[in-house]
Amino acid sequence: MTETGGYLVVGGSTRPTRRSPVIAQWVADLGGPEFSVVDLRDLNLGLDDEPGIPAIHDYVCETTRAWSAMVSAAKGVVFVTPQYNWGYPAALKNAIDHLYREWKGKPVLLVTYGSRGGDKCAAQLRDILGGLDVRLTATTPGLKLGRDRVAANDGAIEPEIDFADQRDEVKAALGELLALAATNAS
Ligand SMILES: Cc1cc2nc3c(=O)[nH]c(=O)nc-3n(C[C@H](O)[C@H](O)[C@H](O)COP(=O)(O)O)c2cc1C
Repeated sequence: MTETGGYLVVGGSTRPTRRSPVIAQWVADLGGPEFSVVDLRDLNLGLDDEPGIPAIHDYVCETTRAWSAMVSAAKGVVFVTPQYNWGYPAALKNAIDHLYREWKGKPVLLVTYGSRGGDKCAAQLRDILGGLDVRLTATTPGLKLGRDRVAANDGAIEPEIDFADQRDEVKAALGELLALAATNAS
């Protein structure tokens, strides 16, 4: 776990056979060398394991402190997350909920995926991230997983091929994130 002054690309799922690291890596590669992937599993955050409320910022868990330092140092954050049952994965919400002040004014890009692109997940995340005062890009790409990919549930995915049609949209959204990061939060 390292701190970074670049951009974090956070994969939103923690299933043993999850696809988020591969998709997150593809997004990070499109972003360039300043973008690095964060696997939620590596953060080892417990489920709501802080005794205090995050807004008070009196973290007792080393894992929370490390996550806080990463987000604080980041110029921006990309969440690359699947849609789970019309919403976001619990592990992603848990990671978001561990922090509070760190999110204020942070430039954020949402990239969701699912059979229809994960639009319901994106809508819910937009809502909760709005409550945390992040600065969201206007574009939130929804990557469409083919029916065979969803049916297989795990296994190989090749983002460069699976999401070829949406590559430009993701590139453009990453450009929006860089532009947001170049402007001060007001
Ligand atoms: C718990 C669960 C719920 C899911 N719900 C949806 C859904 O609401 N919409 C959808 O398009 N796909 C859904 N899927 C299929 C996922 O899009 C697909 O399995 C994807 O690979 C999950 O991301 P992950 O591999 O990073 O965990 C769901 C998958 C899981 C495991």
